[in-house]
Amino acid sequence: MVSTNAVSGVLMVGTLAAFLAASTTLRDTPFSGTASTQHQQPFKPGEWGYADADWLRQHYNITMLSEDPPVIQFNNFISQERIDAILHFAKPKFARSTSGIEREVSNYRTSSTAWMLPDVLGNDPMQAHLKDMEEEIARIVRLPVENQEHFQVLQYQKNQYYKVHSDYIEEQRQQPCGIRVATFFLYLNDVEEGGGTRFPNLNLTVQPAKGNAVLWYSAYPNTTRMDSRTDHEAMPVAKGMKYGANKWIHIHDFVTPWANGKTV
Ligand SMILES: *[C@@H]1O[C@H](CO)[C@@H](O)[C@H](O)[C@H]1NC(C)=O
Ligand SMILES: *[C@@H]1O[C@H](CO)[C@@H](O)[C@H](O)[C@H]1NC(C)=O
Ligand SMILES: *[C@@H]1O[C@H](CO)[C@@H](O)[C@H](O)[C@H]1NC(C)=O
Repeated sequence: MVSTNAVSGVLMVGTLAAFLAASTTLRDTPFSGTASTQHQQPFKPGEWGYADADWLRQHYNITMLSEDPPVIQFNNFISQERIDAILHFAKPKFARSTSGIEREVSNYRTSSTAWMLPDVLGNDPMQAHLKDMEEEIARIVRLPVENQEHFQVLQYQKNQYYKVHSDYIEEQRQQPCGIRVATFFLYLNDVEEGGGTRFPNLNLTVQPAKGNAVLWYSAYPNTTRMDSRTDHEAMPVAKGMKYGANKWIHIHDFVTPWANGKTV
């Protein structure tokens, strides 16, 4: 189930025949490192599925950390410029993290958080880097950019952590944005020791590495049913500091209801 083999497996849920066809014809397709601006067919409104691993392999350097459910590492995904832009906005804004829909402070989660909300970005031209990244993530997950929450940037100091949890929020089933289906997590620095993202049900720990990103799903494709296989935790930082960022992706438009005050 857990594999670090970058060239095996396929992600799209489909028939066995589709699985076999894709894995034989595309197994050896080399990573071209091109065209993160290329488009693929987006999902129809209200439908969603896993990212297309074969498309990803052609455009990105990915490592399939788990195939079912997919946990996909993007190697060297974030440029230095983009990292600088995120930290430029986040560093003056860090405050104690909260969790859940009420955004409560607890010992469950001890990091600091900075949300990249419109008032934080202001008219600063460096926000173009964040917008570009959002467009790119939208193409990868094949869901509209409006379905994304604002970047949530995290700072974990020594001994800080976030215990095992799902990114899925039950109450959001009733909200216009719907549930969070996917998490695209960015690693913004190299951590001296500790700070891995551990998926206990998958026997998998992702080591933070500057510029890498990881994509996973919190629900089963085309459903609003929680997939607890991707429960995960941020392991305590043992040495040094950890910077990361969450990009949570919903089944429906998040930004419009948020702007109208209908969603936390
Ligand atoms: C989602 O549902 C639609 C409509 O029933 C179907 O065409 C599509 O194949 C499904 N996608 C996945 C990933 O299951
Ligand atoms: C893909 O990323 C890995 C890990 O950083 C690296 O070792 C490898 O050289 C990269 N492959 C390509 C084709 O860039
Ligand atoms: C978990 O993964 C480790 C190494 O990645 C492996 O040695 C161990 O056997 C695995 N455990 C299970 C229960 O699969």
